[in-house]
Amino acid sequence: MAICRARLDRFLVKQAHLNKKAVRLLLAQQRVLIDGIVETSADCLIDYFTKIEVDGVVLQNNIPRYVMLHKPVGVVSATVDDKHKTVIDLLNYDYKSALHLVGRLDLNTSGLVLLTNDSRWSERLTQPDNKVEKKYLVTLANPINEEYAKTFEQGMYFAFEGIMTKPAKFVKLSTYQAQVTLEEGRYHQIKRMFGRFRNPVVALHRYSIGSLTLDKNLLVGQSRVLTTNEVVSIF
Ligand code: URA
Repeated sequence: MAICRARLDRFLVKQAHLNKKAVRLLLAQQRVLIDGIVETSADCLIDYFTKIEVDGVVLQNNIPRYVMLHKPVGVVSATVDDKHKTVIDLLNYDYKSALHLVGRLDLNTSGLVLLTNDSRWSERLTQPDNKVEKKYLVTLANPINEEYAKTFEQGMYFAFEGIMTKPAKFVKLSTYQAQVTLEEGRYHQIKRMFGRFRNPVVALHRYSIGSLTLDKNLLVGQSRVLTTNEVVSIF
């Protein structure tokens, strides 16, 4: 039997446009295959990736997809947008319209964006309890001083949301550059944190999410399918 999510009979009523009685008959006549095996129970549980066939006709056969993209500045982290090119517009896969974004980057932020059609996988990366680290390279307008690391580590009060930010790691790389690691993704979080020091962010680039690092061979705007090892490193 397939793994959970929805009942097979409900799926067949909807997708095959049949009533419940007709579905029960189909099942009893052994005309339904689940992942290639005859299934006769109406309460069999299926999910988005279960292959479902009736009389040899495939009703569902979704393949899990995982893509990393090197997002350019000026491209919006959305699937549709009236004004700007979207990250989906940059992809060349025939299944691209089935993908959703695993977290967003601001319009003027570049770097690693992950896309998938597997919501369990994206939830692993975005659930706050999983504390997935996201690493950014930040270039500032003014010199960085020694105070920053302590303030980032302590967290900042964001009055609009009424929250304290979680401890963030701050490593000074040079006078104007730092590496910041966040476990969350509040609205414009990094820009607002540097804003407290009246130090505008002039460039922001995300280069990793959890165990996944932006492939150095990917030029700005390019994407590639994740390897099996990369995909399972998240589960
Ligand atoms: N923080 C920001 O300010 N912008 C981003 O895109 C990501 C983190």
